[in-house]
Amino acid sequence: MRPRPACNRFLPNPALSWYGLTGIQPPWRRILRDSRAFLQMEAEALYAPATLAFNEGKPGGRRDVIDPCCGRVLNCESGGRYALPANLWRFAAMNPRAADSTRSPGATGSFSFGPFRLIPGQQLLLEDGVPVHIGSRALLLLTALVENAGELVSKSDLIARAWPDAVVDESNLKVHIAALRRALGDGLRGNRYLATISGRGYIFVAPVEYVEQKVSARRNGAAQAASRLPAIPTNTIGRADAIERLGDALSRQRLVTVVGPGGIGKTAVALCTAQGARQNYAHGVSFVDLGSVADPGAFSATVATALGLIIRSADKRPAILAHLRERQMLIVLDTCEHVIDEAALFVEQVMRGAPNVAIMATSRQSLRASGEYLHRLLPLASPPDAIGLTASEALTFPAVQLFADRAATGQQGFALSDENAPIVGEICRSLDGLPLAIELVATRFDAFGLFGLSLLLDDSRRLLSQSRRTTLLRHRTLAAALEWSYELLPRVERTILRRLSLFASPFTLEAASALAEDGEITTSDVIGGVAQLVEKSLLSADVSGSITRYRLLNTTRAYALQKLADGGELEAITRRYAERLPGLFAPSQAKSGLQPRKKSRANTQRKQ
Ligand SMILES: Nc1ncnc2c1ncn2[C@@H]1O[C@H](COP(=O)(O)OP(=O)(O)OP(=O)(O)O)[C@@H](O)[C@H]1O
Ligand SMILES: [Mg+2]
Repeated sequence: MRPRPACNRFLPNPALSWYGLTGIQPPWRRILRDSRAFLQMEAEALYAPATLAFNEGKPGGRRDVIDPCCGRVLNCESGGRYALPANLWRFAAMNPRAADSTRSPGATGSFSFGPFRLIPGQQLLLEDGVPVHIGSRALLLLTALVENAGELVSKSDLIARAWPDAVVDESNLKVHIAALRRALGDGLRGNRYLATISGRGYIFVAPVEYVEQKVSARRNGAAQAASRLPAIPTNTIGRADAIERLGDALSRQRLVTVVGPGGIGKTAVALCTAQGARQNYAHGVSFVDLGSVADPGAFSATVATALGLIIRSADKRPAILAHLRERQMLIVLDTCEHVIDEAALFVEQVMRGAPNVAIMATSRQSLRASGEYLHRLLPLASPPDAIGLTASEALTFPAVQLFADRAATGQQGFALSDENAPIVGEICRSLDGLPLAIELVATRFDAFGLFGLSLLLDDSRRLLSQSRRTTLLRHRTLAAALEWSYELLPRVERTILRRLSLFASPFTLEAASALAEDGEITTSDVIGGVAQLVEKSLLSADVSGSITRYRLLNTTRAYALQKLADGGELEAITRRYAERLPGLFAPSQAKSGLQPRKKSRANTQRKQ
């Protein structure tokens, strides 16, 4: 004899024989294969060992599923869109093994309407996050109505749903519907939830949003959620301090933004921080990769997907916020700069509406949201230009460590020595300790050798176009990383950036105005533009002295000079530089490298 399936004890035999179904019990998989894919996900997660009764072709030629709790037939094709999961939830509540996986908060789908959130799997109705005391029958009625929002639910269906095992009079239904109306405040202050269709039944008339957690998000807990963090691709060098400070900031503040130029390591640092902090969040950490969002309109959909939510309404934000309201978690919003307005609005809404959710954003510019803790990530430290730098001295600098690590992965097997340490130090300095640039250059060691690499630095165009294979398009070349920021700039800021690229060393706002201003660009354009370029990590500002000095990273400068030349402006702006800033060192030409070579360095050190 075959062992009886575990759930069969919930199948009342009279109901089975009434439908002529006795003996037909193929695996639940086969039943659910014919229903919607998400139902299958629900069942696979919760009911793997179970078997349900199945009726093929009856009644009316439909495929029907037997509710395992009461033996009622559920139609998968019409009106049963959510009826099956609701009943499976109920089954789960009766089946100890399955029930375990449904009791955890947020482990089920939920419906949001007005200030209410209905979580059928937990038999819970919340109003503004506070449980509403409502009887179990009223809750079943509400579930049936909300599942079929906008459609008539007949009295007989409602009675069958709320009193599956008993024959009851319609007056009972009326009493519970009235209780439901009171609990919802139906008809008060303009709120309308239920419409009575005389003699037939009721319609739930308020807009409803359905939020469903994907299977992967269901088996939650910090460990599971943390696995949704992308792996940190390589060992992160020289960021222990930054990671500690960020972790510290997160323990005190709910909004932390890591800001810095492209490729400086914002994502790497944010991931390390999130890994370290995940134990502090009951619902773990979610990582939202906004870099792939081409259209700001897709912001909310991307967030919902990353949170493991399926939201069926066009405006997904209210449902996301309703979901987050009851969570205690960290969200890493990665690469915000190109959707900065959407990100800032979302962050503000989360800060107001989800008191236990923290956000760590990475962006080339700040969100400017209230309560934001800004961490500006600095380049990796490089050795100073000192005579006789040894390998062991050089290796105390993270930029050199990164170079040596990446160059060593090639076939030639690079090894740092006392002999080559000074040249590696110079390469790292020229690249301003920018990890992406160091990685791109170091991985070309096999092709060029060390001397060839140092020559490469003299040729901006070649340097900017050195490519590597990586899934992230904007990290394939330095030009692509810079293009990403440049493309986001308004026209005036682009023009100012191109013109400022003539400054090979730090400059004042006054010098910037003298060079950039003309009939097209006004003084206030320059003042505002410089501030914006600092904000967007394309210029750095040294505010330590009495006069603020600005500077472009060498790679940014090389890129902007290239743009100046490509736009045919190089000659005119160089002439203007000589005329308006005669006391200053004449800038090197666009074709020259990242940084004047040693023999001219003494000149360029003069502050402009
Ligand atoms: N401290 C580090 N140690 C080792 N590798 C690093 C470090 N920082 C960054 N990298 C590497 O440099 C590259 C760029 O880093 P990352 O993606 O974190 O930069 P980002 O600032 O987030 O750039 P973007 O602004 O384009 O998003 C990656 O390949 C990363 O692995
Ligand atoms: Mg990044």
